[in-house]
Amino acid sequence: MAQATTSIGFAVTQSTSYLSPYAVARTMSPLDHITGGRVGINVVTSFGKAPAKCFGIEDAVPHDERYAAAEEYMEILYRLWEQSWEDGAQVWSPNPEMAYNPSKIHKIEFEGKYHKFSGYHQTHPSPQRTPSIFQAGQSKSGIAFAGRHAEGIYCGTPTIPKLRAYADSVRQSARDAGRDPSTVKLFCSLCPILGRTEEEAQAKYEKYRKNASVQGGLASFCALTGVDLGKYDLDQPFNFDDEELSKAGIQAIFNNSRRWRMTSLGTPEQVADVVEKWFVEGDIDGFNIAYQSNPESIEDLVELLVPELQKRGIYRDEYPVVGGTLRENMQNKPGQPLAAPDHPAAKLRWDKVKAAEDTKCANGGEQQATAKTYELVELGKTPAVSVTVDAMPVASS
Ligand SMILES: Cc1cc2nc3c(=O)[nH]c(=O)nc-3n(C[C@H](O)[C@H](O)[C@H](O)COP(=O)(O)O)c2cc1C
Repeated sequence: MAQATTSIGFAVTQSTSYLSPYAVARTMSPLDHITGGRVGINVVTSFGKAPAKCFGIEDAVPHDERYAAAEEYMEILYRLWEQSWEDGAQVWSPNPEMAYNPSKIHKIEFEGKYHKFSGYHQTHPSPQRTPSIFQAGQSKSGIAFAGRHAEGIYCGTPTIPKLRAYADSVRQSARDAGRDPSTVKLFCSLCPILGRTEEEAQAKYEKYRKNASVQGGLASFCALTGVDLGKYDLDQPFNFDDEELSKAGIQAIFNNSRRWRMTSLGTPEQVADVVEKWFVEGDIDGFNIAYQSNPESIEDLVELLVPELQKRGIYRDEYPVVGGTLRENMQNKPGQPLAAPDHPAAKLRWDKVKAAEDTKCANGGEQQATAKTYELVELGKTPAVSVTVDAMPVASS
């Protein structure tokens, strides 16, 4: 897709609970290189027993603990992306023969409660360094995490007041984390069903309903909540004292109903009315489109809805930076491919950390090959965790 396009971005979901930060960092950087800086990472902590078992673990760790572990995880990612390689580390010199200057490549050491790391990032800095960060937290800890890290948020609520309340809470959370809330872009789930006429849209809806699988719905509900509704008769009242419907299960049902997406059916004009209303009144930045039928739903979106939205001036005709990075285009900030200065990734950049260290060092002497320890004051963490950065030994030539 990157080869066939010039400006669209690609957000890739990665789980902080099951994938090592080292592997994720070195997967995302080459992707950022080959896309010309057009990748994002959708950070999820993963819920439920089934994914845990796929990774050889009996059960997921408790919800809030997953987010605490994810904080450390992000720290390692940022250090690898922002701190391991200084600007100018790649030399590409035939004489003297040197591709990378080892004195500008730094070892990252991290020892926290949940994660340990010791090593170098394996890839020279990519256009965005830290890929644009996406997230979809809904809980208190998820929203706090979003406020600290997210630049794009996937959300889904059934009503505009709930969407507005969610948007407000995420932006407040960003403010609390010392960030400009306008740099957190919200994308709300939307499932448009479009026709050139109302009748055509209605006919598509009926077709999709006919093809919907009850078993599939039950299975996906069960996967989300751990509650198997398939064994209840359709008219049987729920028994909340039932062992299977534990407190957590009931909570999961309510949590999931909170993020059911909005479906809009009709002609391009009718659906555009709804989109415009949600866009303006919900105070969001865009939509996360769900489809019923592939490629039909996507083609309808491009051919019918987008032109109508462009006509109304609420959908852009061109990217702010054609061929630019995802961050430049998503934030509408040409020439700024790196994480914003108030983002935690930026605060862990090599020059920032070194400058802080230089002010600390009384003698300001030779930095190279000397282990330096930095407290994580900038992220507002407990100073129980410390990070050591040292220079890679210089190769003799
Ligand atoms: C549109 C959308 C897409 C999501 N995609 C994934 C996913 O691919 N993998 C995953 O583990 N969780 C996914 N989630 C779940 C979120 O990561 C998150 O766990 C969920 O919204 C509940 O919030 P909480 O973690 O704060 O409780 C998604 C959520 C939304 C709203």
